[in-house]
Amino acid sequence: MSHDAPCSNTLVFFVNGSKVEDADVDPECSLLVYLRTKLRLCGTKLGCGEGGCGACTVMLSKYIRAEDKVKHYSVNACLTPVASLHGLAVTTVEGIGSTKTGLHAVQERLAKAHGSQCGFCTPGIVMSMYTLLRNNPQPTMAQLDEYFTGNLCRCTGYRPILDGYRSLTTSAGPTCGKANCCMLNVGGCGTMNRENPVKNGGMEELDDESGRSGHNLFQASAMRPYDPSQEIIFPPELKVRNDLERERLEFKGPRVVFHRPATLEQLLHLKDLHPTAKIIGGNTEVGVEVQYKNQLYPVLINPINVAELTSIQETSTGMVFGAAVTLTAMEEVLKEQVTLKHESRTRVFAAIIEMLRWFAGKQIRNAAAIGGNIMTASPISDLNPLLTAAGATLTLHSKNGGERQVTLDHTFFTGYRRTVVHPQEVLININIPFTQQNEYFFGYKQARRREDDIAIVNAGCKVVFRPDSIEVLKLDLAFGGMAPTTVMALGTMKELVGRKWDASLLEDGTSQLTRDLPLAFSAPGGMVEYRRALTLSFFFKFYLSVRGLLNQILPELVAPLTHDEQLAVSPHQYTEPSSSQLFQRVSPGQSQIDPIGRPIVHTSAFKQTTGEAVYIDDMPPFVNELYAALVLSSRANAKILGIDESEALKVEGVERFICARDLSEERNQILDYEVFASKMVDCMGQVVGVVVAKDQPTAQRAARLVRVNYEDLDTPIITIQDAIDKKSWWNKWTMKRGDAEAALKAAPYTLEGETHIGGQEHFYMETNAHIAIPKGEDGEMEIISTTQNPSETQLAVAKALGVANNKVVCRVKRLGGGFGGKETRSTTISVPICVAASITGRPVRIMLDRHEDMVITGGRHPFLCRWRVGFTDQGIIKAADLHLYANSGNTQDLSFAVVHRSLYSTCNAYNWQNVSTTGYACKTNLPSNTAFRGFGAPQGMFCSEDIMERVAQHLHMDPKVVRERNLYKSGDTTHFGQVIERCTVSRCWEEVLDQSDYSTLRANVQKFNSEHTYKKRGVSVVPVMFSISFTLSWLNQAGALILIYRDGSVLLSHGGTEMGQGLHTKMIQVASRALGIPTDLIHISETVTDKVPNTSPTAASVSSDINGMAVLEACNKIKERLKPIIAKDPKAGWKSWVERAFLETISLSATGYYYTPGIWGYNFETHEPGNFNYFCYGAAVSEVEIDCLTGDHSVLQTDIVMDVGDSLNPAIDVGQVEGAFMQGLGLFTMEELRYSPSGALLTRGPGAYKIPGFQSIPHKLNVSLLRDAPNPRAVFSSKAVGEPPLFLAASVFFAIRNAVEAARKDHGLQDIFRFDSPATAEHIRMACQDFLTKKIEPAVSKGEKPWSVTV
Ligand SMILES: Cc1cc2nc3c(=O)[nH]c(=O)nc-3n(C[C@H](O)[C@H](O)[C@H](O)COP(=O)(O)OP(=O)(O)OC[C@H]3O[C@@H](n4cnc5c(N)ncnc54)[C@H](O)[C@@H]3O)c2cc1C
Ligand code: FES
Ligand code: FES
Repeated sequence: MSHDAPCSNTLVFFVNGSKVEDADVDPECSLLVYLRTKLRLCGTKLGCGEGGCGACTVMLSKYIRAEDKVKHYSVNACLTPVASLHGLAVTTVEGIGSTKTGLHAVQERLAKAHGSQCGFCTPGIVMSMYTLLRNNPQPTMAQLDEYFTGNLCRCTGYRPILDGYRSLTTSAGPTCGKANCCMLNVGGCGTMNRENPVKNGGMEELDDESGRSGHNLFQASAMRPYDPSQEIIFPPELKVRNDLERERLEFKGPRVVFHRPATLEQLLHLKDLHPTAKIIGGNTEVGVEVQYKNQLYPVLINPINVAELTSIQETSTGMVFGAAVTLTAMEEVLKEQVTLKHESRTRVFAAIIEMLRWFAGKQIRNAAAIGGNIMTASPISDLNPLLTAAGATLTLHSKNGGERQVTLDHTFFTGYRRTVVHPQEVLININIPFTQQNEYFFGYKQARRREDDIAIVNAGCKVVFRPDSIEVLKLDLAFGGMAPTTVMALGTMKELVGRKWDASLLEDGTSQLTRDLPLAFSAPGGMVEYRRALTLSFFFKFYLSVRGLLNQILPELVAPLTHDEQLAVSPHQYTEPSSSQLFQRVSPGQSQIDPIGRPIVHTSAFKQTTGEAVYIDDMPPFVNELYAALVLSSRANAKILGIDESEALKVEGVERFICARDLSEERNQILDYEVFASKMVDCMGQVVGVVVAKDQPTAQRAARLVRVNYEDLDTPIITIQDAIDKKSWWNKWTMKRGDAEAALKAAPYTLEGETHIGGQEHFYMETNAHIAIPKGEDGEMEIISTTQNPSETQLAVAKALGVANNKVVCRVKRLGGGFGGKETRSTTISVPICVAASITGRPVRIMLDRHEDMVITGGRHPFLCRWRVGFTDQGIIKAADLHLYANSGNTQDLSFAVVHRSLYSTCNAYNWQNVSTTGYACKTNLPSNTAFRGFGAPQGMFCSEDIMERVAQHLHMDPKVVRERNLYKSGDTTHFGQVIERCTVSRCWEEVLDQSDYSTLRANVQKFNSEHTYKKRGVSVVPVMFSISFTLSWLNQAGALILIYRDGSVLLSHGGTEMGQGLHTKMIQVASRALGIPTDLIHISETVTDKVPNTSPTAASVSSDINGMAVLEACNKIKERLKPIIAKDPKAGWKSWVERAFLETISLSATGYYYTPGIWGYNFETHEPGNFNYFCYGAAVSEVEIDCLTGDHSVLQTDIVMDVGDSLNPAIDVGQVEGAFMQGLGLFTMEELRYSPSGALLTRGPGAYKIPGFQSIPHKLNVSLLRDAPNPRAVFSSKAVGEPPLFLAASVFFAIRNAVEAARKDHGLQDIFRFDSPATAEHIRMACQDFLTKKIEPAVSKGEKPWSVTV
């Protein structure tokens, strides 16, 4: 028997050209873990572990013997079992270039185009681009876009990445005519794709080699050309040895055995022997189940070398794909078929190709197999509805039962993730039929994000007509997302047979569909009414599309589609993005070595693009190191009756379990939270204990075995409404000016309403990671941490360890993003780790997995605002009374300050006359919400903008006019009593209106809307005014330390942490100007509490301001000391001066300190005014298009003008503007945290929680930094930039609202409607009420709870 044939137990593959032979491979080990731990290639990052972020992207290369060709695929290393790599070559980011050997073109261009901020996504981005180039040395922008569908970046906003790589595509050029042209500008140099000429500052052309400047944001001259002939070669051995792909493999690990049979016979034998074995193709489903659903599959079978499962054949009836054929391979063949055959034959294929555009990311499609998608039997599979409606047939085979054919129809799926396939059976292949002339086929999918997202609802629709008629012969309608399985609308299919394809069929068909596809109030996935509406919208689109095609052959029987109808059914078209970034050049007289105002590249960018930049989990393990896993509460409000760790302690390799029993009550208490929950838990995700073990899998496995017994207490308070009902808040505060109540009574018009804005997950790309190292003496502890707040970490750790602060050192090298999420909440993880390290006396490491991180750390506060407003017929706001309720979660954390900032921001940029605004920090049983870029301000501003919008609607005015009439100007006083100086909001406003050509945009939008029913457009302009400084005045202090060594090199330290925002780069620029030396002499290594003490968190946008001033002071001290030396020999230069100073015993180190004067908080008792340091201003115009039938939207254009003072570094500032804008875009349109009624976070990981992707960016994005706006209140006249631009994304939200308003008007709805944030597809569709939504009766509870609640 061939299954007894000898088999190999040694894995052979290549990594970056080096051969790896491993006779002891663990089948449970992913390629990512193998690279990072066994090969110590740490450039490839772990961002999610579920194939959803692309941080782990590597290139697999395979020799296709039959074609004598090497093919390259980008894949997610986190889901690729290392055992599956036999005979393949892997290339990682380290393999293509380094700072030592030279950067590859894809690394260099990304770095120099400022496409890397925190750098955690960067190696993955590099490898996606690299793989594309290996397959196609000059791709189109559309192909580039396709390759990036599986990559996320939370920092950059994607624009610089696309611009950096544009030069490698067919879209490069035309050139500017210079020999060194970077070929980056489609529109020619100096215009950066703008139709309009440069208006805001000129372009600089210094082009020196130091990276100190360039025209536009790049330095053109230093870009290395891409030379495909220089690529590393595919390992010749893999071409020569055909035994590797032929041999049978068996790898035995401690818990799992991996088989790779070589023949069908061996495969069937194995499946017969192990009926519960998992057959893995791409492992993209099984891998996630193992990682996040705690599944253990002891036997894995990889059929990748079984010819019957990998072959592709054409038959007379269709194309037959082996079950292990990847989606990418299938797509290639289907595309070929579509070009070869008559259109009428390949209608199913065309629908599948279109569906695959939106199916997962490129990396997943490269790995996932068609058989895996079918056999997962997921109710939201994208292929199953298409294959079911198409009537695809499957070949199944088992050792004893032989071969049988089954049709994919309503009988195939027998339950949630169950099918008629027997356990011993293997799916061999799938026959996808050709279509006939009189047969029409379409597929539909709606997701929360267009690309790389699983469907909310999808559908496959097929109709066959009697020849030469419009009478339905057969109808097949299959839907996903409407039941536990893919379902067919059997009633509709039956009822419409024999009917003519006309309006009455549409009417009856949609009515019958509502009966065929009901959804219970509590249906998993929620969005019950929306999902039902989508089924009707899809059917309507199908009806129209078929009508359009019928008209082409039977024009006498069927009317053609109107232009409006054609647009309604046209699939989403790729639009190549274009952009411009305008900034003011430095004055011609500025010294060449003075870097201030120049677009210098982020100091870590080159290391980030090569994978050399070190993040915490990249640090090599310490001898004797332990790994920690947290035990988290699973109840939202319960008493802890007992904790039983006995089972966990039995697991081999477990060292200890530590919980509240191990700490005194006093040491267990940090502020208002406990290190370990002791007596009760008041949210899910609270830390109850920690298991430390020899490695991560052991610790995590053991942590799941710790039993915590609870007694539930009162029904948890989850939503803001629950909190209001129970008056559950820690505190409330009122800020006021004038007499709002009297003014409301006197106002000519009044309105009242309610506005809700949802929360937001930080989704920094690097999850919380910490290493605690006990020093063994005097209770000393060192903690290397992903915190934005080293001093607070030091303080909390010292408290829990019962030692003085001087025994604890906290180090931060860099963070893979923070956005506020690591300001305070990181201590809920770092402190338990330090306690564990202290108790065991051994170093302890932790890196949270993505789900844990999302569950534990909270996010942006959701807000509910109830408001009343009084105004004149001119739209002037005379009075406003607002009540803002923040869902703070289970601890106070920063909620008081967040609510205060929301109150400071409730008027945004408007001079409202009489204002009373009250904020409530609601205590709920959710994980504590915390700081998030904007810190309550976006929520407060959102409320004011919603009011402006509704006032405008009431007065039938353009909201732009209402906003304009209320804008602040210099000399006005804010509602908290600060007199505004140097107000530039009107300048930003005027310039953005001009830049965007707002009036033409608006006229075009109105014209478009008058001509279209199913698609609508909207346009909106929104200002931002953001107060700068911490509201707690004592936080506005910073320190710096400068150490100058004898060779003239400078080691700089300051209190801020580098998390991608370019703070270190800016601080080096400040020191460079202050000392008059080049930037390359200055180095910042890390932020550490034993160099600069008592630092403020890197937050509130002020870090450049305050640390910059501290750096300046330290530098000035040194300069002062060097003065006599320089005077003696002014021409000697920096290095000689330093050496001389040393010899003359002059101290070459200095500290700097700065405290921002003139800041005080508003007094909520006496209502005395508060005062910030200054304000940031900006304005944005956005234009959007919505699909009223599905709720989908596209941002057609955004123009931004932002006042950043005299920019310290325009590349970094533009990067912050764009990155913040895109994060805001997520907040206002897409990101939706869903909680169960009992308080469990349902949207965990990138699969369920969607942040914007490459395709979410505006088709046109024009960013200008306001010129000639120096700010005397910060270092070198600059301004803060981190947070203020985020709110500008509200322009997209209100443009969507504007479009929805137009849609509602078409259906006679003129009311001033409520439209909450985020403007998800669900909210948009359900607000665009029409003849289809009318058929959906409201979902009503019959006692059951909804799947999720709005918190
Ligand atoms: C980030 C991400 C995004 C995704 N996006 C989408 C999406 O947009 N749309 C969508 O539909 N799905 C999506 N998925 C789900 C999944 O990737 C697909 O279903 C994929 O096609 C599964 O294929 P696979 O080869 O990786 O399956 P595997 O994980 O290898 O296997 C899946 C299941 O199929 C069984 N199986 C596989 N082959 C056979 C066979 N020959 N005979 C019998 N049983 C077999 C396995 O035993 C297992 O139970 C996504 C997954 C991830 C991780
Ligand atoms: S870590 Fe692999 S895709 Fe996120
Ligand atoms: S640079 Fe992309 S996630 Fe930070």
